[in-house]
Amino acid sequence: MKTIIKGGTVITAADTFASDLLLEGGCIVQMGANLPQAGARVVEAGGMLLLPGGIDVHTHLELPFFGTVAADDFYTGQRAAAFGGTTSHIDFAIQHKGESLHQAVENWQRKAQDKAVIDYGLHVAITDLNDTVMAEIPSLVSAGVTTLKLFTAYKGVYQVDDATLFRAMLKAAEAGMLVMVHCENGDVIDLLIRDNVAHGNLATEYHARSHPAWAEAEASLRAIALAGIASAPLYIVHMTCAESVDQLRYGRARGLQVMGETCPQYLFFTTDNLRQPDGAKYVCSPPVRTAADNEYLWQALSAGHLQVVATDHCPFLFDGTQAITYEGESYRKPGKELGAGDFSKIPNGMHGIEDRQLLLWTYGVNTGRISANRFVELTATNPAKIFGMYPCKGTLAPGSDADVVVWDPAAELTVDWRQMHMRVDHNVYDGRRLRGRPRQVFVRGELLVDGSAWHGRRGSGAFLQRSSHAPVI
Ligand code: URP
Ligand code: ZN
Ligand code: ZN
Repeated sequence: MKTIIKGGTVITAADTFASDLLLEGGCIVQMGANLPQAGARVVEAGGMLLLPGGIDVHTHLELPFFGTVAADDFYTGQRAAAFGGTTSHIDFAIQHKGESLHQAVENWQRKAQDKAVIDYGLHVAITDLNDTVMAEIPSLVSAGVTTLKLFTAYKGVYQVDDATLFRAMLKAAEAGMLVMVHCENGDVIDLLIRDNVAHGNLATEYHARSHPAWAEAEASLRAIALAGIASAPLYIVHMTCAESVDQLRYGRARGLQVMGETCPQYLFFTTDNLRQPDGAKYVCSPPVRTAADNEYLWQALSAGHLQVVATDHCPFLFDGTQAITYEGESYRKPGKELGAGDFSKIPNGMHGIEDRQLLLWTYGVNTGRISANRFVELTATNPAKIFGMYPCKGTLAPGSDADVVVWDPAAELTVDWRQMHMRVDHNVYDGRRLRGRPRQVFVRGELLVDGSAWHGRRGSGAFLQRSSHAPVI
C-alpha cells in the first residue's frame, strides 16, 4: 500500500526540516512538498515529528538465564518495542558449550521467525572457542551475522579468558566483523560473591557490592588494550560508570577503534534502589551505581563520549509465582523471587525495550541535555552505522526502509506497567510523567501502531542481513 505522511517535521541525526514522506514497496520513495496523493492512504502529521524507527542493538528475548527464562519472547518483546517507537533490534544468539556458532544462530532464528513483528538481527555470543569454532567465524558474515559478543564475566557460565577474547578479536578484524564485550572482571566478582554469601551478606544490595565499578573499569581497559593490540574494532556494551567511560575516552583519545553503549537504567537508578523492598527489580549486571555516575553518563552522551543508547532488555517477573494476563492469555514464569533471601540467585536483568525512546526524549531532549537530532543519532543512526544497516535503517531518506515513527512531542503519559506492552508485572519507571511519544509506527511501510491500536502480524518481521566492514563512529 502507498502511504503519504503529510505535514510533519523530519528529524535526522544531521537535519531538521519540513517534508512529506511517500512510502511504497516497503521504502521511502520520495520526500518533499505536494507529493502525488492519488491512491495513497494519507496520514496527517501536522505538528508531529517524523523520526527514523529506533534500533535497539542489545536485547535478550527468551534468554534462558539464572534457572529461568527472560519473560518477553520475540512476539511480546517486539510488540512492546514497536509501541515504544523501536522498529529494529539485535538479539544475542548464545553458543551453548560444544555447539557451533551456526547452530546458535539457528536456535535463535527458530525462536524468532514465526513470532517477529519488527525487523531483527542477531549477534552471536561465543562461550566455547576452539579451532573449529575459530574457523567458522568468517562464514557468519554471509549469514548476515557480522558481530561477535564475548563476556569477561559470569564465571562458569559465559566468561571467556583473555586468550579467547584476543583470538576472537584477531579473527573478527580479519573478517571485517565487530567484537562486543560485556566488561567486568568475572574472577574478582566470583570471589566477592562467594565471600559475601559465606559471611551471610545476602541482602540485594550485596549484588552491587560484589560488582564494583573498578571491576568494570579494569575489564574495559583490558578489552580496549587487547583491541588495540589486535587492531580490531571494539564495542563495549552497557557502560555504567565514570571509571569505565574514562577508559573508553582514554582509548579513543589514542586513536583506538573503540565505542561504547549505555542503557536507560544506568541513567536513572542507584544502589539506593537495591535497598528498597522491591530492590530485586533493579538487579542487573553490571549493577546500577551512583547519582554521580548517572550524571556522568548523561554528560558523556551529550559530549559524544558514548555512541549508543540501547536497553539490555532482559526482563523477569518480580513475582513469578503469580500469573499475569498478556493479550488475554495467562503467563507465569519464575522470576526475581528466585533470589529472595540470597542476592546471588536473583535473575540478572531489567526491562527497557518499550521505555528507551520515551525516557530519553523526556529526560534528554525535553531537559535540553541532548538535541532531538542527537536523540536520533544515539537511538537509530549510530546503531545502524555501527552494526552494518545504514542507510537502509537509521535515517529517513529516499531509498531507506520505510521505518517511520510519527512522534507527538506534546502527548503526555504517566508510566503504568498495566498500560505498557512488555510481558512483565511491574515497570521500574511507574508513576513517572513523560511528554513525547509515538502516535503511529510504521515498519517497512506497514502500520503497526496507531495510537493505542495494534495492527502487527506475527511473522511479518524480517531478519536483518547486516554488512561487514561497518564504520567505527
Ligand atoms: O543483567 C543483565 N545485564 N542481564 C542480561 C545479560 C547481560 O549481561 O547482558
Ligand atoms: Zn552483559
Ligand atoms: Zn545484555
